[in-house]
Amino acid sequence: MNNTDKKSIIDEIKHLKNEKDAVILVHNYQRPEIQDIADYMGDSLDLSRKAANIDCKIIVFCGVKFMAESAKILSPEKTVLLPRKDAGCPMADMVTVAELRELKAKHPDAIVVSYVNTNADVKAESDVCCTSANAVKVVQSIKSNKIIFTPDRNLGSWVQRFTDKDIILWDGYCYVHQGMNPRSIKLAKGLHPNAKLIVHPECRPQVIDLADEVLSTSGMIRFAKESATNKILIGTEEGILYRLKRENPDKTFYAAGPARVCRSMKVTKLEDVLIALKEKRYKIEIPEFIREKAKKALEEMLKYI
Ligand code: 13P
Ligand code: SF4
Repeated sequence: MNNTDKKSIIDEIKHLKNEKDAVILVHNYQRPEIQDIADYMGDSLDLSRKAANIDCKIIVFCGVKFMAESAKILSPEKTVLLPRKDAGCPMADMVTVAELRELKAKHPDAIVVSYVNTNADVKAESDVCCTSANAVKVVQSIKSNKIIFTPDRNLGSWVQRFTDKDIILWDGYCYVHQGMNPRSIKLAKGLHPNAKLIVHPECRPQVIDLADEVLSTSGMIRFAKESATNKILIGTEEGILYRLKRENPDKTFYAAGPARVCRSMKVTKLEDVLIALKEKRYKIEIPEFIREKAKKALEEMLKYI
């Protein structure tokens, strides 16, 4: 697309957004041109909070399906649009309600904590949700000593480092973070010996062991801004580098090893956002009996920063 075409699409998006009282929420991994049209950017927790509190008729969610579903669960009166139907999170599909019920039956005394990266029906089957930003606090706040944690085994085992509770881990993972390996991270550290390494808790424990900080994506944005260090190795999906560089032009950021790309986070293009606004597509719809139960688990999560 040439620059004139791009500009006219962006102008049309802005015009439609105002006309239809729409707001564009954008996850930190989205393409640069999508980040540039965001009204608000953030991690899963920031964007859930924003969706719950923002005053508008339409939310256009540039992220993946579970994020748009969370927005709809928390704000049912709004129209929530996911511009691409194929923007799903493979990890969210690694746990189903039937499988979770089976595990619950084996551990009737366990509390179910589900990562927000789950489908709405699994949230409805859970006691509380968490994100990468508040998982440790959510688990620590639970009275019961036994917890079923779905679906990310890496986030769950990261949380286990901070509690004596018995955490039964679901065997799910994010292929983007699972693919980061300690050998290439050690190489990157060797190339940039003065840089700090910050990684996402979806990484494998062997990668987490090498990190200076383990943070959600917005935690990384805050760390980059506030830290005195001016060289930072980033252990997460590569889309965040654009925002980090834009907001901190005086600092240097490197991917920790070969760049990792989440396909689902990259399918949304400017044209899709325009069509979403024009045709109100694709509307997120959640059956009310699921939404009500999922809302309880999400609202419980929102108590923790
Ligand atoms: P954050 O909530 O940290 O942005 O993570 C979302 C996600 O999908 C990470 O892979
Ligand atoms: Fe899902 Fe991983 Fe992509 Fe995040 S980066 S949306 S967890 S596949």
